[in-house]
Amino acid sequence: MLNWQELKEKCAGCTRCGLCETRTNVVFGTGNEHADILFVGEGPGQQEDLTGEPFVGSAGKLLDDMLSIIDLDRRENCYIANIVKCRPPRNRDPLETEQDACIGYLRNQTALIRPKVIVCLGRIAAMRLIHPEYRITRQHGQWEEKNGVWITAIYHPSALLRDVNKRPETFDDLLSIREKLRQVGARV
Ligand code: URA
Repeated sequence: MLNWQELKEKCAGCTRCGLCETRTNVVFGTGNEHADILFVGEGPGQQEDLTGEPFVGSAGKLLDDMLSIIDLDRRENCYIANIVKCRPPRNRDPLETEQDACIGYLRNQTALIRPKVIVCLGRIAAMRLIHPEYRITRQHGQWEEKNGVWITAIYHPSALLRDVNKRPETFDDLLSIREKLRQVGARV
């Protein structure tokens, strides 16, 4: 396992998959490295690629609003990362091979953060971190304990921008996250 500095340097120079050829920046992750809660998206979009920061486009603004509902703030008490750290061209889903090449970085980040709660943002992260057959429409908001860590998934903020009808369910899921943080005695 690498320490933060080593891991950031390794990611910055990564050539483990073809996404390195089209990226502007590696989007490593951001937030409190000692947070009790980790949010995981799928991969950087255009704004993220240009800035090197996760969730800074329109979906990111919505994510920040969602976090504030449950007293979370990326600058203070949570960490945000992605399954793949480089932008897939035209925002296509990251390929299985790209996910395989990149997942070790997220595992190393998770081992360093040691979160009590992990929230997958959308289907891709849920399929990778919870179960390959995960059905986001049916299973969002459900909790599972994996290796002592509580894990759930909610709709991806981009999906909530496209379909406002999903927002009430997501509000309930957010309240459930707040409740879980209370249950596990998280510092928020
Ligand atoms: N969508 C994601 O899944 N991750 C980001 O960082 C931005 C948009």
